[in-house]
Amino acid sequence: MSTEKLVYIETFGCQMNERDSEIMEQLLRQVDYLPTRELSRADLVVVNTCSIRAKAEQKVYSLLGRLKKIKDGKPGLIITVAGCVAQQEGERLPARMPQVDIVVGTQNIYRLPSLIKEVEAKRCSRVAVDLSPSFVIPRHLPSPPGAVVASASEKRPFKKFVTIMQGCNNFCTYCVVPHTRGREVSRDMDDILSEIQDLAGQGIKEVTLLGQNVNSYGKTSDTAGGRFPELLRKVAEIDGIQRIRFTTSHPKDLSDELMRCFVEVDKLCPSFHLPVQSGSNRVLKMMNRRYTIESYLDKVEALRKMLPEISLTTDIIVGFPGETDEDFSATMELLEQVRYHGAFSFKYSDRPLAKSTDFADKVPEDVKSARLARLQDRQDQINLELHQQHVGSCLTVMVEGRSSKTSRGQWSGRTDTNHVVNFTAEGLQAGQMVKIRIEEACLHSLRGSLAD
Ligand code: 5AD
Ligand code: SF4
Repeated sequence: MSTEKLVYIETFGCQMNERDSEIMEQLLRQVDYLPTRELSRADLVVVNTCSIRAKAEQKVYSLLGRLKKIKDGKPGLIITVAGCVAQQEGERLPARMPQVDIVVGTQNIYRLPSLIKEVEAKRCSRVAVDLSPSFVIPRHLPSPPGAVVASASEKRPFKKFVTIMQGCNNFCTYCVVPHTRGREVSRDMDDILSEIQDLAGQGIKEVTLLGQNVNSYGKTSDTAGGRFPELLRKVAEIDGIQRIRFTTSHPKDLSDELMRCFVEVDKLCPSFHLPVQSGSNRVLKMMNRRYTIESYLDKVEALRKMLPEISLTTDIIVGFPGETDEDFSATMELLEQVRYHGAFSFKYSDRPLAKSTDFADKVPEDVKSARLARLQDRQDQINLELHQQHVGSCLTVMVEGRSSKTSRGQWSGRTDTNHVVNFTAEGLQAGQMVKIRIEEACLHSLRGSLAD
């Protein structure tokens, strides 16, 4: 009789967490847990959490509330909390929520199999939240042969995230990440390259290199192979990999050499996420961002001079403590100056251990909401205007999968500039490159049909 049990993994937050969930999924196979997408069948639930904004954390607590009810009817269910909320709350979690069996911090996920074994044997709770500046990201975990049950990775069989570093040394005053992910640690370059080599061997065509601040890859650890531009160039030498992306970057660390990579490294996609956070120098200073809006705009101009088609996206926080109408107008003005291809925008929220939590002049909730709505409205218009420029052109798209479960022949893919393109076709496969004639511009996507 099989001793295999089922694990349900729920992931909140960034791509880093998505990748960590994949790693946990792989590790859990070592202790006979196979993934399931049906919560009701699970013997083990792992909630991989995010605490970047208050709202993200609230979602975690509401799921833990639901899980408590399920566990009341199924006492053997093991509940694990991983990720940033786990790191932040540590011992407080099981103390407040006795339904939680295991709390596993951001650097401790590799200990999950042994923690599970202990909990299974002793029906005790376990908290592992050590955070060390000398942490070494383990060598890569091979993908399991032939996943039996649908897994996170099967959603995109041709593209993968690859963690290249973890943590952050920047201490932007609003940000919880340096406290939950610890100091910057870069992964050994040979480990990264061999992981990508293996992925290419499995048919992966696109990799996204992940870190909180990839621009400082190799600055604080000896990676035995140099900095981020060298890494990009070496990844590009791997046969089978067709597209390379990376995220996230800090504008202050964007070097000329990295900008040149966009021109010189063919496989590096011309799309760049460059979080600005605010258009006001006064606010940027309070945020401890360590660049001015003028130096940011100079970098944008230099990038566009080198590669006019590059698509730029950003993150913006509205309602940072002390943000005046004038500061907010400067952010609105920035949207006009840069004309981003997309902006992720958020209302400021206080985070535990972040410095700005103690700042005075908090912006009232209704003012934050009104500013966010204005900003998003304008950015939506810009998105649409930029999308309309593509109507009538032919774009190369990497097929991602079917865009509709119900109607046949509806596909979705992405251009190298990361635009989502929906189209009608038959008999395609994910990962295939096709040419699409663009017929319609929507707010968040383009629509077209196969060009001959
Ligand atoms: N409040 C609102 N937004 C935040 N972000 C980070 N911390 C906060 C906070 N305390 C946003 C930033 C960052 C993105 C991932 O989340 O814009 O770039
Ligand atoms: Fe947070 Fe700033 Fe580090 Fe980004 S660079 S993770 S915003 S502290």
